[in-house]
Amino acid sequence: GESRPLRVMISGAPASGKGTQCELITGKYSLVHIAAGDLLRAEIASGSENGKRAKEYMDKGQLVPDEIVVMMVKDRLMQPDSQEKGWLLDGYPRSMSQAVALKDFGIQPDLFLLLEVPEELLVERVVGRRLDPVTGKIYHLEYSPPENEEIAARLTQRFDDTEEKVKLRLQTHHQNVEAVLSMYQDINGSATKEDVFAQIDKALSKLVEERAAAESVA
Ligand code: AP5
Repeated sequence: GESRPLRVMISGAPASGKGTQCELITGKYSLVHIAAGDLLRAEIASGSENGKRAKEYMDKGQLVPDEIVVMMVKDRLMQPDSQEKGWLLDGYPRSMSQAVALKDFGIQPDLFLLLEVPEELLVERVVGRRLDPVTGKIYHLEYSPPENEEIAARLTQRFDDTEEKVKLRLQTHHQNVEAVLSMYQDINGSATKEDVFAQIDKALSKLVEERAAAESVA
């Protein structure tokens, strides 16, 4: 029969390449990509009270409080598309309390991935990052430049992608990562995006094979 859909969590420092790898992963494994940061930015764009509160924390590079983030993520994971296709959760959990909160709802991943990238690479990745508002694709002025002039002209930058703000975001990451570290599988994220994806693809296809084998026995 049909195997149960995959559930994957991916985490890592700001600009470690989570969004980039998620584009590659969903291109091959048709999982629903759910990014905590994207959910929060959508909440800000909606003008809601939660959005206004979230923006205050994001401006300071701090974690948005669990009472806003946890239900937002949980509700998205429970949607029919995520349940049917499986999900790829990006940027969550960022603390032990966030991991425990989902576990208490009975939600656990099949695989945790943590992208490890040395600090000196992160700042230049943030500062050079650009987003295409039309396709949602992530670019970098140097490492993944836009394909043509038309795209180049419409690229935007995120409000927290300044050198000053990324330093605060990195500080927050370091304060929280230790607590969840033991739960993650390390991926060397400092290689090219294709080589990083090759490592992830290996871990995912191994998981898919193991589960197919387990099901054929059952
Ligand atoms: P979020 O939106 O998740 O931002 P982040 O964690 O800072 O991560 P980024 O989106 O900046 O980077 P990324 O790892 O996706 O890298 P990308 O692929 O774009 O969170 C924003 C804020 O929301 C947080 O600060 C917090 O306030 C709040 N928040 C979010 N989740 C929360 C939670 N769970 N709880 C509480 N608060 C939460 O790559 C970066 C650049 O590098 C790109 O230009 C890309 O082209 C380039 N690049 C990627 N890979 C490579 C490579 N291998 N080689 C060279 N360049 C590369």
